[in-house]
Amino acid sequence: MNNVIDLLKSHRSIRKFTDQPVTQEQVNLFVEAGQAAATSSFIQACSIVQVNDAEKRSSLAEWAGNQAYVKEAPVFLVFCADMNRHKLACDMHDAEMLSGFTEQFITATVDCALFAQNVAIAAESEGLGIVYIGGIRNKTDLVSDALELPELTYPVFGMCLGYPDQDPEVKPRLPVSVVLKQDSYNADQDAETIAEYDKAVREYYRTRTGGQKDMSWSEQISGMLQKEARPHMLSFLQSRGFLQK
Ligand SMILES: Cc1cc2nc3c(=O)[nH]c(=O)nc-3n(C[C@H](O)[C@H](O)[C@H](O)COP(=O)(O)O)c2cc1C
Repeated sequence: MNNVIDLLKSHRSIRKFTDQPVTQEQVNLFVEAGQAAATSSFIQACSIVQVNDAEKRSSLAEWAGNQAYVKEAPVFLVFCADMNRHKLACDMHDAEMLSGFTEQFITATVDCALFAQNVAIAAESEGLGIVYIGGIRNKTDLVSDALELPELTYPVFGMCLGYPDQDPEVKPRLPVSVVLKQDSYNADQDAETIAEYDKAVREYYRTRTGGQKDMSWSEQISGMLQKEARPHMLSFLQSRGFLQK
């Protein structure tokens, strides 16, 4: 192992932050690190809205399902998949932009995720903590309006950043044998391996919550997947110009 791998493997989401400020220079540096991520066909299809306004922060916290840290974190960033500036690039060359392809939605969303993860690692390497906030997609239309997002953009997730005021344990991940297959997708051993992993997750939750949360990974996932997953997203994305074809 080396220091980078150590850092990556010590990630845990932080949901409580100290008052120690994060400077704009730091944020800019983390964003530059984000921009250094690979980007599909050089499209650079991620824009970030840094939300400083206290009222907007309160609204975002509420829309994200009353997640207080969205309001309280020193820094809150909204990562947006952005094909809007590509229209501008086409206009600059009197070219008609063919938009709305599912492929473009995928590449812009992937770009955002890679960008954001670089931001996260950069911040963590400087001793900060982060948590992603997918909860903003609960009210993706209100978020887009509040941030005045143009067409061909959508808010993928938010991210809280700040200095940690908690020290949670690292959450155990699935065994490598479940996620890394050789030559073909062979899941023969997966049920057995996941049952073992379930014990580790149950223990993790028990320890973390002082015995209050007693749940395995497969239990958590099977509970979650019995509920609809933000069914408004398809029509919302289509209304922004994505997923037309
Ligand atoms: C795209 C994305 C969205 C997430 N949304 C939320 C969220 O809205 N609220 C939250 O508390 N955590 C959120 N998380 C954090 C996950 O719950 C967390 O990463 C996962 O449980 C693993 O825990 P760890 O990050 O501590 O290792 C999100 C993570 C990702 C990658």
